[in-house]
Amino acid sequence: MAVDTRATGSTVNGQSQRPAMPSTVEELRSWGKGDSSLPAIDVKNLKVYYDSEAGTVKAVDDVSFTLQQGERLALVGESGCGKTTLGMALMKLTKPPGYIDGGEILLDGRDLVPLNDEEMRLARLAEIALVTQSAMNALNPVMRIEDQIFDGLIDHGIKDSKGNLRNHVYDLLQRVGLRESVGRMYPHELSGGMKQRVAIATGTSMNPKVIVADEPTSALDVVVQRQVMMTLSRVQRDTGAAVILIGHDMGLVAQFADRIGVMYAGKLVDIGTVEQIIEDPKHPYTKLLINSVPDLEEKRERLTGIPGIPPPLVDLPSGCVFAPRCPSVEDPCRVLAPANTDVGDNRHVMCHLFDLYVTMAGSEVG
Ligand SMILES: Nc1ncnc2c1ncn2[C@@H]1O[C@H](COP(=O)(O)OP(=O)(O)OP(=O)(O)O)[C@@H](O)[C@H]1O
Ligand code: SF4
Ligand SMILES: [Mg+2]
Repeated sequence: MAVDTRATGSTVNGQSQRPAMPSTVEELRSWGKGDSSLPAIDVKNLKVYYDSEAGTVKAVDDVSFTLQQGERLALVGESGCGKTTLGMALMKLTKPPGYIDGGEILLDGRDLVPLNDEEMRLARLAEIALVTQSAMNALNPVMRIEDQIFDGLIDHGIKDSKGNLRNHVYDLLQRVGLRESVGRMYPHELSGGMKQRVAIATGTSMNPKVIVADEPTSALDVVVQRQVMMTLSRVQRDTGAAVILIGHDMGLVAQFADRIGVMYAGKLVDIGTVEQIIEDPKHPYTKLLINSVPDLEEKRERLTGIPGIPPPLVDLPSGCVFAPRCPSVEDPCRVLAPANTDVGDNRHVMCHLFDLYVTMAGSEVG
């Protein structure tokens, strides 16, 4: 007997009452809109490593954060700090030699880490969706746009008339600022910006609770970048999904996000509201990142770079990973790793300037 592994509304792992997966367009419209009091996503002590000849690459090392329903979090940090690895792990798309070494990814209360491939296939798109810079290149060149979106819906158990499916696709296209006629086009007939809007329409076609957007605009020119970000913003508002936006450009992500998480060498070293991070950067790395953002009003002659380079993730320094580059480093920083400290107002900082080390130093460090 075939087993329907779709969520059925029962309690899963004793953690949450999940509504049954939708099977018609009508049901899809209200899917994901339940007023769950749980966070949209709660990541606990997540570790994602790669095996390499040089050793274990700790690309995501004990990362924890919580995102409330409908919240927008931007993840920033220098190249290679683990942002994409984290985003892919949230989708359970980590490929060998990468693997999830531990931790939990609670999506609306259900841990994704132990789910099998089929359960995860259904959760993707319907509960958590990914939009990447290469999403536009992932479109099938010989299929019309609407047929590609239909396929995703049908794969997730939507059984409805062609007319209803088509109306749903037209609504999705309209939401991302595209005309209905785009549904009947092939990918080669679309500009880069239009393809990325199609990728956002596809990613949100099942009303997921969480959207992971990994540099969705970095392949586009500046004007189109802003338009696509505005589209993502509108879609987020309409769907109420929580969004994790991964990006390099602090200025661009700050305009979009409610909160900013700063990653360094596989760790989430600072997380707070946009205002907290921009107006009151606490972690020394965050301060340097903010200083390196071009300020057009001040017309700085030279941009302030961040001296030094991040450490290799196979050979992290003992103590604080930022110690070799930190202007505030003290001797104890080189031997004792800072804890993730709640400094109030749901702001978390990983630095000895803010953790209990100050009071522990006498006993812990000689
Ligand atoms: N398949 C792999 N095997 C070994 N190491 C890998 C693999 N993929 C990524 N890494 C390493 O994991 C670390 C994190 O990479 P990741 O792509 O997540 O960084 P990122 O923050 O997204 O960078 P960028 O801003 O350039 O996109 C890097 O040091 C990278 O070299
Ligand atoms: S723990 Fe020490 S080295 Fe690390 S960021 Fe804080 S002050 Fe700098
Ligand atoms: Mg990346």
